[in-house]
Amino acid sequence: MNAYLAGIGSYVPPKILTNAYFEKIVDTSDEWIRTRSGIRERHVVEGTTATSDLALEASKRALDQAKVPVKKIEAIIVATATPDMYFPSAACLLQHKLGARKIISFDVTAGCSGFLYAMSIVESFIKTGYDNILLLGAECLTKITDYTNRSSCVLFGDAAGAVLFKQTNEDRGILSTYFAADGSYGDLLNMPAGGSLRPASHETVDKHMHCITMIGNEVFKVAVRSMAEAALKALERANISPDKISLLVPHQANIRIIEATAKRLKLPMDKVAVNIDKYGNTSAASIPLALDEAVRSGRVTQGDLVLMVAFGAGFTWSGVLLRL
Ligand code: ACO
Repeated sequence: MNAYLAGIGSYVPPKILTNAYFEKIVDTSDEWIRTRSGIRERHVVEGTTATSDLALEASKRALDQAKVPVKKIEAIIVATATPDMYFPSAACLLQHKLGARKIISFDVTAGCSGFLYAMSIVESFIKTGYDNILLLGAECLTKITDYTNRSSCVLFGDAAGAVLFKQTNEDRGILSTYFAADGSYGDLLNMPAGGSLRPASHETVDKHMHCITMIGNEVFKVAVRSMAEAALKALERANISPDKISLLVPHQANIRIIEATAKRLKLPMDKVAVNIDKYGNTSAASIPLALDEAVRSGRVTQGDLVLMVAFGAGFTWSGVLLRL
């Protein structure tokens, strides 16, 4: 039994911050942000809007496309590094908002690789007889962004992407997966406080320790290497060569990382999904958001091979090959 994509949807909050906004609040320039990262603008939540709210809108769109009613969903998994709160999980909050009842619901945390990591769980659920599994990558990264730090504040945006997976006996769906992690890099990209190591205190708040900290250029080097490794391993496991791929959907952290990954696979950029210019880095949401755009615009269609690759905090990295 294979897990195939029966419906996909995404949602971004309406408010947009362009690079010009950051020129006003930190010492940066539109030119620097565009050339170093590829980002022009990003969507951001306002007020009390939280991750489960973005996830709800994306879920409705995926369910609508799959023509599956809420009552048929058997599991909800949310990949996120920014749940509404530590507990209950964003998945349980989403379950309630959707009006689904008494179904498996939990979150997966693997940084920007979370959406792909969670596909391993989707795959095993489908193989053990579950059907109609709703998988989300959903983030409100701007709620943990330090807007006094020019190195990181220009990078992040908010979004959610949802996929409804169903069972099939056909040769489609998840064809191969590759997952890796190296915890020795934990200090290069983290949110230092708020957990059991450094619970919230006046000091942690004053020092902005509830925000993302990242040594960008160090992360960059490992990201380039690891994204290519993940892509090649996923292809190797399915015995498929890069030229057979219809579309590469990489995590959108930096245009230069995306271009380096494509180059390593010898793929022209017209076979690569790029939307970082419009949304910035939306962590676990970036792959379903980019895939949704590709599906809805007709860039990929049933039968096409799609290779997804991610890299993020942990460090974690992953490649998943999917036949639509
Ligand atoms: N505007 C102007 N100058 C800046 C800015 C800014 N916003 N930010 C940093 N600079 C300066 C630095 O201070 C530095 O100045 P110096 O040379 O005088 O010391 C210079 O620009 C170069 O800084 P670098 O950090 O070396 O710049 P780099 O080219 O590496 O680009 C970036 C930074 C965009 C963050 C890049 O390193 C990157 O994309 N890293 C990887 C991100 C990633 O993949 N993250 C993983 C996923 S994210 C997640 O899991 C949530």
